[in-house]
Amino acid sequence: MHKHQHLLPIFVALCAAFALIDEVDGEYLIGVGSYDMTGPAAGVNMMGYANIDQNTAGIHFRLRARTFIVAESSQGARFAFVNLDAGMASQLVTIKVLQRLKTRFGDLYTQENLAISGTHTHAGPAGYLQYVVYSVTSLGFINQTFDAIVTAIEQSIIQAHNNLKPGSILLNTGDVENAGINRSPSAYLFNPPEERARYTTNVDTTMTLLQLLDSASNRSIGAFSWFATHGTSMSRENRLISGDNKGAAARFFEDWFTFSNNSLSTRNTKFSTIENISTLRNKAQKIKATGGKPCGKTTSQGFKVRKNDGSRFVGAFCQSNVGDVTPNVLGAFCTDTGKPCDFNHSSCNGNDQLCVGRGPGYPDEILSTKIIGERQFEKAMELFSSATNPLSGKIDYRHAYINFTSIEVQLNESTVVKTCPAAVGAGFAAGTTDGPGVFGFQQGDTEVCTWQLASISDHDLLSWVCRP
Ligand SMILES: *[C@@H]1O[C@H](CO)[C@@H](O)[C@H](O)[C@H]1NC(C)=O
Ligand SMILES: *[C@@H]1O[C@H](CO)[C@@H](O)[C@H](O)[C@H]1NC(C)=O
Ligand SMILES: *[C@@H]1O[C@H](CO)[C@@H](O)[C@H](O)[C@H]1NC(C)=O
Ligand SMILES: *[C@@H]1O[C@H](CO)[C@@H](O)[C@H](O)[C@H]1NC(C)=O
Ligand SMILES: *[C@@H]1O[C@H](CO)[C@@H](O)[C@H](O)[C@H]1NC(C)=O
Ligand SMILES: *[C@@H]1O[C@H](CO)[C@@H](O)[C@H](O)[C@H]1NC(C)=O
Ligand SMILES: *[C@@H]1O[C@H](CO)[C@@H](O)[C@H](O)[C@H]1NC(C)=O
Repeated sequence: MHKHQHLLPIFVALCAAFALIDEVDGEYLIGVGSYDMTGPAAGVNMMGYANIDQNTAGIHFRLRARTFIVAESSQGARFAFVNLDAGMASQLVTIKVLQRLKTRFGDLYTQENLAISGTHTHAGPAGYLQYVVYSVTSLGFINQTFDAIVTAIEQSIIQAHNNLKPGSILLNTGDVENAGINRSPSAYLFNPPEERARYTTNVDTTMTLLQLLDSASNRSIGAFSWFATHGTSMSRENRLISGDNKGAAARFFEDWFTFSNNSLSTRNTKFSTIENISTLRNKAQKIKATGGKPCGKTTSQGFKVRKNDGSRFVGAFCQSNVGDVTPNVLGAFCTDTGKPCDFNHSSCNGNDQLCVGRGPGYPDEILSTKIIGERQFEKAMELFSSATNPLSGKIDYRHAYINFTSIEVQLNESTVVKTCPAAVGAGFAAGTTDGPGVFGFQQGDTEVCTWQLASISDHDLLSWVCRP
């Protein structure tokens, strides 16, 4: 079977959920939760690059599901948002989670008011989506991955639910510098000039942050931010499970908050003076292998990783309108010549596989992950420290399933066209500069390609045929 590279460009999210809050007093019940969802760390295909040779072989850092719930009263209207260190959410996962929540909480959490979102890391285990195309390179469904994710979401929601306390929410926005560039700048130029003239850059650099405050202690219990950049700082050759740049940003934020003593008065302290790497390193060195014995006090998961009870500050970095935004901000270069790739085709003398994007830590992808994580973390910390704008009003939400095959698009005053059924074009096989695809394909090709079955001297031959 033909390998499909980098699935995301054509899978536009089919659902959108968001909270609407307007005009009332600004006091809610707010809870946060966070639970480990790392999954199988050996021998399991990884989700994102659709690279059949990319199987887990260890852990860079662990994955988490981070949740916040905002409710009007203990049984009243509410909204739950879960951010996963995963490639994307999955309808099958959502169905299972909702089944489990129903047995526990009745109709408090439904598909209408529960939003599950993925950071779009490309370094987590695969096999948890029910659709065929997502499961090709993992050779099908992987229960271990599915179970870890479902359980983490369920447990993080339970924590947030059990932690609901009176609180308020502050909103802030700002621009993140140099954490994402457009990886298809030639395609962007096909947008009408008058539309492009409305923006100073060819990517959206906005970060939106919600700060969650506990009223009784006047302290922050969490912060969730949204900013668009791909989780592709770790490459398609990487085999370590990783939350990529957003997972890293979350760890930096949560550690910063812990080091700053969970206190609003010290919120403004700068990252560099708080992050004490030597303390963490000393702690890490004291952890001894158990040799197969059960974990003791200092070998427990709770000692090694963050507590699983949701009592600590939860800092989540969520994905937004990511489209073609890459964290490989140095640009894409040919691996043979070191020169920039062909602008219109993201290839090198016609070979797409030689054109690869470079992160700021190039050639060290772990360093790139850290740097892009830090750039998001530092902006989030700044927005967090300066947030003053409280949200107020009733809680409401909208969830829509949208059929992308028949959306009307107004081209100009007289012409309305409709989108067509999904199709896989030649550009899809070419992948992207974050994860080049199949040899022989280029981005920007306008030929129509299809699978065709031909019989040649008693052999059935399935071939990929392209016509202009
Ligand atoms: C998946 O794993 C869970 C937890 O280990 C187990 O309860 C369940 O039976 C498994 N399902 C399948 C289909 O193997
Ligand atoms: C809560 O903390 C903020 C920021 O430090 C401060 O401005 C405010 O006065 C505090 N409110 C209460 C009720 O203590
Ligand atoms: C942390 O904050 C608490 C409460 O404000 C305070 O009592 C304690 O001394 C602080 N600890 C450090 C190490 O600053
Ligand atoms: C970090 O912690 C170590 C050990 O507790 C201490 O010796 C060192 O001074 C600290 N460094 C900073 C920059 O606070
Ligand atoms: C890219 O394509 C555009 C429009 O098709 C063309 O005008 C431009 O010259 C091309 N640029 C390069 C560097 O090939
Ligand atoms: C989506 O729309 C197309 C065209 O109108 C229709 O053929 C198809 O059945 C629809 N799909 C769903 C799931 O409703
Ligand atoms: C509107 O767009 C269509 C399709 O591109 C074009 O044929 C038509 O001339 C346009 N009409 C106007 C008024 O620009």
